[in-house]
Amino acid sequence: MADGRPADGPEDAYSAEPFVPGRGGIAALRRAAADCRGCPLHRDATRTVFGQGDEHARVMLVGEEPGDQEDRQGKPFVGPAGHVLDRALDAAGLDPGQAYMTNAVKHFKFSRDPAHGKRRIHKPPTLRESAACAPWLAAELTVVEPEVVVVLGATAGKALLGSSFRVTKERGTLMEREIHGRVEHLVATIHPSAVLRADKDDREEAFGGLVADLEVAVRALA
Ligand code: URA
Ligand code: SF4
Repeated sequence: MADGRPADGPEDAYSAEPFVPGRGGIAALRRAAADCRGCPLHRDATRTVFGQGDEHARVMLVGEEPGDQEDRQGKPFVGPAGHVLDRALDAAGLDPGQAYMTNAVKHFKFSRDPAHGKRRIHKPPTLRESAACAPWLAAELTVVEPEVVVVLGATAGKALLGSSFRVTKERGTLMEREIHGRVEHLVATIHPSAVLRADKDDREEAFGGLVADLEVAVRALA
């Protein structure tokens, strides 16, 4: 370019759409997502962390974005928040092995705070990044066709239910929507990392609330 700026890359369009294949199952989507440059988040992260689990799962759990451990291991919910989630699923009577787990945003966003040495500090995605990544989540929903979608926290809630979504207001109630003539149920709850962030005295109650909301999803499956 004459002014020395690099030519616009695909990430300037802030949409994953051009990278999403028109056909194929989860494996094809995962392969394609590995090369997504639909927004700038792919630049600093190690890899795309795509959804994982049974392609025909009855339940899909949607989180925010991969964390440090997920970015290293390439799988969603394998770090501290994932361990809380596994314990909560177990307490609610939902086998994690029977759920498809994914995130609203597929790349880890972080900053490096010199005070923390090499540690990478999680940063929440912006609405724009989340909107850019939405075509992947839409494609996962189309393939998996879950009966119940569990919405974990505000980012997932805004991605699936719109920007006016508030966890505190909408958690724990069974919602329903029609997608291509198919009824899909949704239940929102707090993000499992909110349990980890809670004060020690409040942690048990926060965990209990998460379990109670997950039980709403379990009842919807029955
Ligand atoms: N938090 C999320 O929202 N997703 C993960 O996969 C891990 C932590
Ligand atoms: Fe693509 Fe989503 Fe990663 Fe952005 S965060 S590069 S849209 S996969």
